[in-house]
Amino acid sequence: MAWKSLDDMDLSGKTVLTRVDINVPVSGGKVTDATRIERIAPTVADILAKGGKPVLLAHFGRPKGQVVPEMSLEVLVPALAEVFGVPVKFASDCIGGPAKEAVSALGAGEVLLLENTRFHAGEEKNDAAFSAALAALGEVYCNDAFSAAHRAHASTEGLAKLLPSCAGRCMQAELEALEGALGTPVRPVVAVVGGAKVSTKLDLLGNLVSKVDYLVIGGGMANTFLVAQGTEIGKSLAEADMAGTAREIMDKAAAAGCKILLPADVVVAREFKAGAANETVPATECPADAMILDAGPQAVAAIKEALDGAKTLIWNGPLGAFEIEPFDAATNATADYAAALSAEGKLTSVAGGGDTVAALNKSGAAEKFTYISTAGGAFLEWMEGKELPGVAALG
Ligand code: 3PG
Ligand code: MG
Repeated sequence: MAWKSLDDMDLSGKTVLTRVDINVPVSGGKVTDATRIERIAPTVADILAKGGKPVLLAHFGRPKGQVVPEMSLEVLVPALAEVFGVPVKFASDCIGGPAKEAVSALGAGEVLLLENTRFHAGEEKNDAAFSAALAALGEVYCNDAFSAAHRAHASTEGLAKLLPSCAGRCMQAELEALEGALGTPVRPVVAVVGGAKVSTKLDLLGNLVSKVDYLVIGGGMANTFLVAQGTEIGKSLAEADMAGTAREIMDKAAAAGCKILLPADVVVAREFKAGAANETVPATECPADAMILDAGPQAVAAIKEALDGAKTLIWNGPLGAFEIEPFDAATNATADYAAALSAEGKLTSVAGGGDTVAALNKSGAAEKFTYISTAGGAFLEWMEGKELPGVAALG
C-alpha cells in the first residue's frame, strides 16, 4: 500500500485536519443512520490518543459554493459528541478567522468540526488558494473519507499535496477490504451486480468479467441480458438499446472464463406495488402483460451453489425490486446465505453502494458480512477499476 496510516505519523501536539464523510441522513434535526459517524470514531480516538487535535473537515449535501443554512453541519454536533464520547466544538466557517480562532481555542481531548467545506466554491473546484487556506489551519492531513474519495476536491485531494498525509482508520479499512475482495482476492470470486440499468454499470461489468469467476446479474439489468439472448420479457423494465452491449459483455466473459449467472426463473407481477399478486415462471416464459420484479427460487439456488464453492464475494446492487415486498425475497435469501457462510468463516464478503447496504440492512444480513462499505459512488468507481483521486493523492 502506497499510503501511510495513523500508525506512521507523529501527531503529538499537532492539529490534524481530518477529512471525514458525515453526509448522513437527517430527519427532524436527528441523525437517522449514524453508520458513517460510527466508522470514523476510531480515527478520532486514535488521533486523540496520540496527542493530536482532530479538526474535522466535511461536506453536507450539495450547496454548490453557497452558504445554505439548511446544509450547515452544526446539526450533527450532538450526534458526533455522543458517538465519540468527547466534547465536539463547532466553527461557523472552515477557513479564515472563525476557523483559526476555534482551532486555537481547542482544548486537549476535544474535537472541532468546521462548517461545510462546500459553502466555498473553491472546494469543488479544487482551488489552490482554498486548499492553502485549509492547510493553514493544521500540521497534518488525515483523509478518512473513502466515500468521498471519487471527488477531486480541495479537502479530499488538494490538501494532501500541501501537508504530510495519511489515511484514517475508516479509509484504511475500506481500502483493505476492497483490496482483499477484488485486488488480490482468494478465488473463486463471485460478484453480484444488480440494480436497474445496464447503462449505469457498463464500466463495472466490463471490469468485473476479467477479474471474477462468477458474475451474478440481477435486478432490471438482468432483463436487458435476457433480451440480448432473444428472450421475450413482457412489460419488464429493460434497455433494449443496450442489448448489443450486453452481448459484448457476455462474449468478453466467455473469453475470460467468467461464468455469467442470469436468473433461470423469475417472479412476475402485473403491478409495481407492494403485495402485488405474483407468480414464478421460467425466465423464458414471462407473460406479455407482466413484468419481472425478482429472481425466482431456482435462480437463488444457482447463486447459493456458486457461493458454496467460492471464497470471496463482492456485491453491488439488489437482485430484485427489494423496496417492495415480496419482491425482496431473492435479495434476502441470497444475502442471508452469504451472511451465514461469512459467519462460519467460509466466505469473505464485501458489499457497498447505497441501495445495496439498505437492502442488506433490511434483511439483517449486513452484520454478518465481512465488510460493508460506507461508500456509494466511490465503491462503484473502485469496482470499475478507476483510480480514486482522494486515494491516489495519499500515495
Ligand atoms: C455520498 O454521500 O455519497 C458522499 O458523501 C459523496 O457525496 P456527493 O455525491 O455529493 O459528492
Ligand atoms: Mg452520492
